[in-house]
Amino acid sequence: SRHHRIAAIPGDGIGKEVMPEALRTLEAAQRRFGFRLDVTPIAWASCDYHAQHGQMMPDDWKAQLQGQDAILFGAVGWPATVPDHVSLWGSLLKFRREFDQYINLRPVRLFEGVPCPLAGRKAGDIDYVVVRENTEGEYTNLGGVMYPGTEREIVIQETVMSRFGADRVLRYAYELARSRPRRHLTVATKSNGIAISMPWWDGRADAVGADFPEVTVDKQHIDILSARFVMQPGRFDVVVASNLFGDILSDLGPATTGTIGLAPSANLNPERRFPSLFEPVHGSAPDIYGRNIANPVAMVWSAALMLDFLGEREAHDAIVRAIEQVLREGPHTPDLGGQATTTSLGEALAQRVAG
Ligand code: NAD
Ligand code: IPM
Ligand code: MN
Repeated sequence: SRHHRIAAIPGDGIGKEVMPEALRTLEAAQRRFGFRLDVTPIAWASCDYHAQHGQMMPDDWKAQLQGQDAILFGAVGWPATVPDHVSLWGSLLKFRREFDQYINLRPVRLFEGVPCPLAGRKAGDIDYVVVRENTEGEYTNLGGVMYPGTEREIVIQETVMSRFGADRVLRYAYELARSRPRRHLTVATKSNGIAISMPWWDGRADAVGADFPEVTVDKQHIDILSARFVMQPGRFDVVVASNLFGDILSDLGPATTGTIGLAPSANLNPERRFPSLFEPVHGSAPDIYGRNIANPVAMVWSAALMLDFLGEREAHDAIVRAIEQVLREGPHTPDLGGQATTTSLGEALAQRVAG
């Protein structure tokens, strides 16, 4: 069907500023391409629901969202009033886990017209996808502080990786690599220093890779891999990483393409047993909130990824083309050295999508 139910959760800070621009673009896309979105706005964040109820979401949040086809998410986090681990574990990280969104797809691309912080790179030179494991790994709440308040205080926090969890994200990454022209996969590792989980992870990459002889693979330790994101970004096609390594790479990569304000993400439950969630890579940016200067492209591109996942391929393509044109022609928001506002960029994008 071409009728999709969407929950829109703007969240905190600039989430509230960029979400309206995504909705504006989606309006234009619906008019042009003839599908229908049923959008339910939901105010579950630090500065609204938490301020009133002392928790990020109602207890029945899962039942309220289960019938949605997708969730469009801005960002949460307002550390001035709610500690970050409370707001994130009460919201975004819950969605990823309980809706089993085990793939976090984070494309990185250098656009024409965008000043690149790396010398001598032009559009097309940086074009890869980070596939981040999104439900386990370094993000656990297993552990604790022992002998608190004493000089012998100890803190332990476990990393958990399962064969089931590793294999499914590795398989997804191999399949994605196989579908792209270069058919290359980089496996982020740290099997020299993290001597239990990471050699095991490399072994799972080999085992799953046996089904993908067409895909060339290189394993790189996360330290030098990070350096190569800066020095040799053209080496990368698909990069698969554990939860924390993927988190770090997916801010670093976009930084090399001008700004994290461009970077989108898709938190996918590929089997569609649960709604998938689409959000910018960036956070709520309290430092710029309220000035109408946040770059809305990451949010708008995330909305396009959502449409692609919902089967609206043409609308996705039109939004990506609009982003290309608007970035090429300018003006840009301040994160790219310009003076444009969030609203004016959003309007320019929606106008292009309207055709
Ligand atoms: P951040 O991504 O919010 O901001 C980092 C820097 O990038 C800031 O200087 C900010 O102004 C700038 N920036 C981010 N997005 C931008 C945009 N669209 N346009 C222009 N500039 C942009 O990261 P942070 O400062 O580490 O975190 C702030 C809050 O957001 C914290 O509460 C954090 O936990 C939360 N956070 C939430 C998410 C999420 O919900 N997905 C992601 C990251 C951080
Ligand atoms: C991201 C964010 C989150 C993460 C934080 C806010 C918990 O940085 O989506 O990249 O670490 O996954
Ligand atoms: Mn992050």
